[in-house]
Amino acid sequence: MRRPIRLGMNVDHVATLRQARRGSLPDPVEAALLCEKAGAHSIVCHLREDRRHIQDRDAEELRRRLKTRLNLEMGLAPDVVKAALCIGPHQVTLVPERRQELTTEGGLDVRAQLDRIRKAVERFEERGIGVSLFIDPDLRQVAAARRTGATAVEFHTGAYANAADPAWELRKLVAAARAARRAGLAVAAGHGLDTANVRPVAAIPEIEELNIGFSIVSRALFIGLGAAVREMRKHMDAARRR
Ligand code: PXP
Repeated sequence: MRRPIRLGMNVDHVATLRQARRGSLPDPVEAALLCEKAGAHSIVCHLREDRRHIQDRDAEELRRRLKTRLNLEMGLAPDVVKAALCIGPHQVTLVPERRQELTTEGGLDVRAQLDRIRKAVERFEERGIGVSLFIDPDLRQVAAARRTGATAVEFHTGAYANAADPAWELRKLVAAARAARRAGLAVAAGHGLDTANVRPVAAIPEIEELNIGFSIVSRALFIGLGAAVREMRKHMDAARRR
């Protein structure tokens, strides 16, 4: 029997819409609570250095009100690390961050900043906050991730989602997921996943969680947020049963 797969719902795009008018609507916290009711297993948000969507108070409210888990994505800017330690999410996911990018465009280069990441992992682990590293599906990055003391990795599925030849990218994800599992790391994946491309990734048995935002929020415009979450879960669960 295969292990079930979890959906981490990313609510950044709800906050992006709110920030377009700098008002209070739509509220990403309300959206997150609705997603939980519809079957999301955790809520993900990215506290960016430029605070372009999620604000500190959103993350604080999410931590206070969620019934599931808060997975806070973040870079290593000192003020963001300080805020994250204050918020105390269940998990942080360390991501590379560039101000000019539209979204997180690649995985962390863990090999190039091993000491810096190891120190950050230590600070979070001391406070009982688990750390996941968002990396490309690259065996060298998996090996480096293991050396940082992080307990989990999330594989960037952007290359798979955008590939002319997704089969090749999928093979990389399969190999990296196996290696990470063998190294004792928990394995998640995400970025660019939608109902048309999610099934092959959800079928990889080593992957325990998919973190998805943009496609679900986009779909919600037409069918509602709860229905969009349920629809995605249906695809993920069906892939897992096969
Ligand atoms: N996982 C991580 C680490 C991310 O940075 C993002 C994008 O914010 C996602 C998952 C979700 O990607 P998408 O919004 O394309 O589903």
